[in-house]
Parts: sequence; structure tokens; C-alpha cells
Amino acid sequence: MKNAIAKPEPNPSYYLEEWQRGYESQPQEFEYTIEDIVGEIPPDLTGTLFRNGPGLLDIGGTPIYHPFDGDGMICSFSFQDGKAYFRNRFVETEYYLEEKKAQKILYRGVFGTQKPGGWLNNIFDIKLKNIANTNVIHWGDKLLALWEAAEPHALDPKTLETKGIDYLDGILQPGDSFSAHPWIDPSCELDGGKPCLVNFSIEPGLSSKITIFEIASDGKLLRRHSHTIPDFSFIHDFAITPHYCIFFQNPVNFNPLPFVFGLKGAGECVEFQPQKPTRVILIPRDPNNREVQTFTVESGFVFHHANAFEVENQVCIDSITYASLPQVQPDSNYKEVDFNNLDPGQLWRFTFNLSDGSVTKKMIESSCCEFPSVNPDKVGREYRYLFIGAADQDTERNAPLQGILKLDLVTGERQLHSFAPHGYVSEPIFVPKPNAVAEDEGWVLTLVYDGKNHRSTLAILDGQNIQGEPIALLNLKHHIPYGLHGSWHPLAV
Ligand code: CO
Repeated sequence: MKNAIAKPEPNPSYYLEEWQRGYESQPQEFEYTIEDIVGEIPPDLTGTLFRNGPGLLDIGGTPIYHPFDGDGMICSFSFQDGKAYFRNRFVETEYYLEEKKAQKILYRGVFGTQKPGGWLNNIFDIKLKNIANTNVIHWGDKLLALWEAAEPHALDPKTLETKGIDYLDGILQPGDSFSAHPWIDPSCELDGGKPCLVNFSIEPGLSSKITIFEIASDGKLLRRHSHTIPDFSFIHDFAITPHYCIFFQNPVNFNPLPFVFGLKGAGECVEFQPQKPTRVILIPRDPNNREVQTFTVESGFVFHHANAFEVENQVCIDSITYASLPQVQPDSNYKEVDFNNLDPGQLWRFTFNLSDGSVTKKMIESSCCEFPSVNPDKVGREYRYLFIGAADQDTERNAPLQGILKLDLVTGERQLHSFAPHGYVSEPIFVPKPNAVAEDEGWVLTLVYDGKNHRSTLAILDGQNIQGEPIALLNLKHHIPYGLHGSWHPLAV
């Protein structure tokens, strides 16, 4: 009689084949009033949800190497009088248009997509393709598609037609970059309480230059200042408080040779250094204060921050951290991922004491989570509620994001709305109700890929009752590939 006991396998909440189909290209562009609705669109939900993400996962039938290399496609959901109008349209970058015409890959992608013909056809070609696929924001009377390593593209907010590269009325110069993770400070102390947009650009090298931009709601530059920090940097996101911009300098090395020699994409040459600490850099937002403070902390790898705030002489920041950054293996297929072999994203709170330089950290959420969202009035301020994409099961393992988790950071209460086993969520966006008083009084919008029906559904959840039935499910006629980031604009277009 055998004594072996089968290793208990977690009961997966998803079907890998279904999850994989969410990465099929959507080459078609649509516009229509959404009619297949379960529930009712709140009549007082007025405005537009804009989303960005890779729309093409292949070019002329040749798969790209990583979804981050996929051409940006914008979706808009415009709400008025209880109705919703949907549009999707590609950002017509010069590269998108050329490759569409040629029906083949003409440019190398940062995350490993190579031109056909092997390394000989890629060697020394270090031109990066601006794929405009990471975020989309409406600010300064412009709708901008963002990609962190290059200039924004301006779009028509109504038709989503691409107007071209936009230099923000001279704020940017050709070749400049503008991160895909701006924050809107709802009430800037330096401007008498007016809102302003805060963003950064980074020029990585042996040392790295961080430039901070603060832009008024009319699009005029309020403040710009640059700071040089030691070493190469891979910084995707940052956080703000009323007085600081906070950057996590992830512990990575960059070896550009395989990229220059045509063997790997530039992003694949970033090597995680688990033995090295993370440097956390606090840059004062007031350009007259040049006193940059640096802390070190063991954090792993951070893509996204949820929020930050100041309490007396301390700065707190809530960030999704990974114990390690998996190295993309040559000839691997991103769709064949073994989730169990990847570290989960977990939410931590880091507290930096500005008086004595000490740092503390505390895990807030151990189950796999990513894509945080907070009430926009609470950006940079003490806050209570966080909405975030999360795995269906609290196993501390990596898994597809299938639910929206609401965390009460005061009581520790957690509520999950799961779309498992067939639903795969995207970044939630919190939209406060008109005249809302409570911080969680609003709607949580998330685009869910329905793997059973191979289509996407926009879910509207009640911020005060996440676990309850969705307020409305808006079923599209087709699927939208898994997206990255988006934003809410209070005007219906
Ligand atoms: Co991001």
C-alpha cells in the first residue's frame, strides 16, 4: 500500500484556455449605444470612462512577444441620462500606420518583440516604437494617450481620432518622455487650493534624471524641476503628497548589450537584483526646496503605488510589491505562464520618518492584487478605502485578477466581488457620486473579460456594497483585450 499523499493542489478559480483568449487581438473599431444591459445604469452617472491597452497582440498574424508591446487602443464609455455609448479606436502612431499597411512587424518592441529575420535584422536598431498603450487622461482640454518612454499622442475626445504627437504647448520637446502615471492633486497648496496634474519623466543612464512637471487645469506649466539620482532607474509609477513626489528606485541592473546586439528587447535587459535594497527618493514639490531625501528599504519590485500621505513628520505610501521580478525567458510564451511559479503582487504600507530617517513596513493585503484605485479627492491625503483588482482566492499565490477587492484601511475589513470562474477584471476606477459625503459613496467601474462568451462587459459596482449584485453589467458585442490604465472625465462626450 502506497503511503504517498497527493500534494494538495489549489482548486483553480479560472480556466487557462479562457484566460489566454483575452489576449486575442481586436482589430475592429466599433461605435454603438450599449443595449445588452443587466440591471440599470444610474441616471446620475454622467461622464466618460477612457481606457487604454494593447489592442493588437499580433501584426499580420505574427504574434508579438509581450502584451506590453501591443499597439495602444482606446475605449470610451460615455454615460448620460442612464445610457452608455461605446467607442474603440487605435492610437494611429506613425508606427501603427506603417505596420498596418505592411501587415508585418517593422519595429522592435521594448519588451522583446523583434523584427523577423533574427538578430542580424535587429542588431544596432535601437529605435523604440512609441506604442501609446499605457494610459489615457483628459487634462488641459486635451485627451492624451500616454506611454512612459516617449511623447503623448493627442486624440479627439469624442471620436478618439488621433491628432498626432502632442508637446503640451511647448512643455515637452521632441524626444522627451512623459510618464503614463500622472496624478491629479485635487487641491494644491502651492496654487491656493486649485487642482493640478503632477507627472514625471525619467532619463535612465549610469545616473538617472527625474523631471517633475506640475500643470494647471488650463494646460499651463506651473512648475518644472529636475534632479539627478545615482544609477540606472526603472520607475513606472510614483506617488504624491501635498509636499513630496515619492519614487521607488527598484533594485535592478541594466545590461544593454543583448538589446544593442539584436538579441533581446530593452525591457528584457533589466535584471532584478534581489540582494539589493530599494532606494526611496522624496523630492519636494516646491521647486525652491532642493532638499531631496533618500531612504533604503527591502521592498522587492514595485510597479504601482496606491496612494501616499503625510502624518506629522512621517510620509506613508501604500504600494503593490513583488518579491521578485521574473526574468522574461527567451523563446517563452507569455500565454503559457505558470501562475504558481510567479510571486504575487501584495500590498504593503511603508512609513518614512523624515526626522530620524527610519523606515517601517507592514503588509496590508497578502492575496495577489494589482491596479489600485482611490477616491480622487483623497489623492495624496489620508484615506480609508482602497479598490483593487485581486485574485479570486486568498492563497498568497499569483493568479489572474478575477475580482475587485475593497479594503477598509481603518478597520481592516475586506470585501471581494469575484467574477470567477469566467471573468477577468481590469483596473477599477472609482467615480464619486454627485454630492457624495462618504469616501466610498460612488461607483466602481471595471471592464471584465468574459472568457465563457469571449466578450467584454463593463461592470458598475456600488462602492458601499462591493459584494452585492452589480448595479449594472454592460455587455459589449465583442471582446476587448486585457487593458492597462484609464481615467474618468466628468463630461459625457
Ligand atoms: Co502602470
